[in-house]
Amino acid sequence: MPAPKTSGPTILVTGGAGFIGSHTVVELVAAGHPVLILDNFSNAKPEVLDRLARITGQAIPCITGDVRDRALLERVFADHTIGAVIHFAGLKAVGESTEVPLSYYQNNVAGSLQLLEVMQAAGCRNLVFSSSATVYGDPHAVPIREDFPLGTTNAYGRTKIMVEDICRDLAASERGWHIALLRYFNPVGAHPSGLIGEEPQGVPNNLMPYLLQVAAGQRECLSVFGSDYPTPDGTGVRDYIHVMDLARGHTAALAALPGLDGAVPVNLGTGQGYSVLDMVKALSAVVGRPLPYTLTARRPGDIACCYSDPSRAEAMLGWKARFGLETMCRDGWAWQRSNSGLS
Ligand code: NAD
Ligand code: UD1
Repeated sequence: MPAPKTSGPTILVTGGAGFIGSHTVVELVAAGHPVLILDNFSNAKPEVLDRLARITGQAIPCITGDVRDRALLERVFADHTIGAVIHFAGLKAVGESTEVPLSYYQNNVAGSLQLLEVMQAAGCRNLVFSSSATVYGDPHAVPIREDFPLGTTNAYGRTKIMVEDICRDLAASERGWHIALLRYFNPVGAHPSGLIGEEPQGVPNNLMPYLLQVAAGQRECLSVFGSDYPTPDGTGVRDYIHVMDLARGHTAALAALPGLDGAVPVNLGTGQGYSVLDMVKALSAVVGRPLPYTLTARRPGDIACCYSDPSRAEAMLGWKARFGLETMCRDGWAWQRSNSGLS
């Protein structure tokens, strides 16, 4: 692909080598933004940068470092004209957050606090923050709107609520902040090239990565966690969203930032819920054979049903998900095949 022309101030992408960050970098370059990645590679491989160069047709500048390194952050803002920050960097595994909560508060809360302090000192008040649907806990109704009460049952979720609160307090204390708190539902799929995607370390916790490894023959069988939920087929229902749609949600949020006064939460989901068995069926159709599964007990902490009301994203960001379940499965499978060395 010929390198698109970039212009304007640089967008600093923390955690830009990770799953959602790398896909967002592709969209940012396509939209003409100069990009600078800051990543400590605690959950990403340096090869991602070569892959990004192949996809975008240009080398993406990247600083290897930690958002908690204040001197480094100050240098980044001194050396570059940063117009806005998209802040992905953080830890994201719910189970792990209950085992090592201090690491989660340190990376996610202290890291974000430090970033905001340095942004404030540098006079950069434009931020897109990676929040999560986990901030809604067990919602009293679906579809979930942004004005629903917040609450969560684990340390990871609390770090997201805390950072949202910090952003709200900051924006209320000082005029001029434009902050999009993007609450992602369940990101799946991959860039259609199959060059970048999600690469969980160890046994995947999330449904799609696990199911893709079953399809690739790396795991025997999917355990379906619970078949007695009050849902149409008894299995858990979620709002799966293609990661390229999610990535485009970030360029839309950037474009809309000047009109977002203060810290504004926005759901990024499709608005459509699918059950675990819907997902098994959809991926089986793409792979061309039935994928094995067994019905097992519920996973502690899981909720029955979670899907978004995405209307605010359309109204405020002019953004709407485009890709359906088949594309999510097809692109996820292309990535899994290339990443597992299958033809
Ligand atoms: P990821 O782990 O693939 O990406 C995070 C990136 O941040 C990694 O490349 C990692 O190396 C880097 N990183 C972590 N701590 C850092 C630090 N202190 N300094 C610098 N770099 C650091 O995760 P992802 O799935 O791309 O998620 C990105 C963001 O979106 C996270 O904040 C996550 O909590 C949030 N989120 C993810 C999901 C999901 O299902 N993937 C859902 C909702 C919200
Ligand atoms: C999980 C996190 C949530 C995070 C979200 C990001 C927990 C408790 N919650 O949510 O905080 O924001 O990922 O995408 O970890 N399932 C199986 N078998 C499996 C794996 C999952 O049946 O091996 C089921 C689950 O019970 C659930 C559905 O698949 O019904 C989706 O699970 P998962 O992908 O882990 O996402 P969430 O539970 O929505």
